[in-house]
Amino acid sequence: MVPLSPPGDAPAIGPGAPSDDAAVAALASRFFAATAASEVAALREGPRASVLVARRGADVVGYAIVQVVVDEAELHQIAVAPDRRRGGVGRALIREVLREAWARGAARVFLEVARDNEPAVALYESEGFVVDGVRPRYYASGADALLMSRPA
Ligand SMILES: CC(C)(COP(=O)(O)OP(=O)(O)OC[C@H]1O[C@@H](n2cnc3c(N)ncnc32)[C@H](O)[C@@H]1OP(=O)(O)O)[C@@H](O)C(=O)NCCC(=O)NCCS
Repeated sequence: MVPLSPPGDAPAIGPGAPSDDAAVAALASRFFAATAASEVAALREGPRASVLVARRGADVVGYAIVQVVVDEAELHQIAVAPDRRRGGVGRALIREVLREAWARGAARVFLEVARDNEPAVALYESEGFVVDGVRPRYYASGADALLMSRPA
């Protein structure tokens, strides 16, 4: 039986399991692009990407996908369920992404974020990411993309 943790406790972060694929795909489809559970499974089973899952009790409340190529890691996606935000889940996921990137041999972690995504930009800055460059009007919304990185 999965132990239930009260709200406010640190989330448990770990590698995604096959039984998490559908929940991760649902979150990814909601915040990024339509994603099938089979696509999450392919990433999880592949050699380069790690799918990290945040759990509170039995619930998947967030996830992150990081890919490492040689000594560079790229944070592809990170999302937390809206009703579980502002509780430290995003920060816990980022810290696990950094650990995972380092463990896989990355020297630096890169990401791309819309300049107007204030929660995400604030999270990344508070975890030591700095802006390396800007892609003007990169997103369909017209928002600029910030290219950010930090050592793994
Ligand atoms: C960005 C996201 C992952 C943050 O998750 P979260 O669990 O709410 O984050 P945390 O509770 O760990 O917050 C960590 C820090 O992020 C910043 N932050 C989070 N939400 C914020 C908000 N609404 N406004 C301003 N800063 C915010 C703060 O610095 C916060 O630290 P604090 O709580 O000490 O002030 C979440 O908002 C999300 O899923 N957004 C939609 C998907 C997305 O945009 N992903 C990023 C794509 S690049």
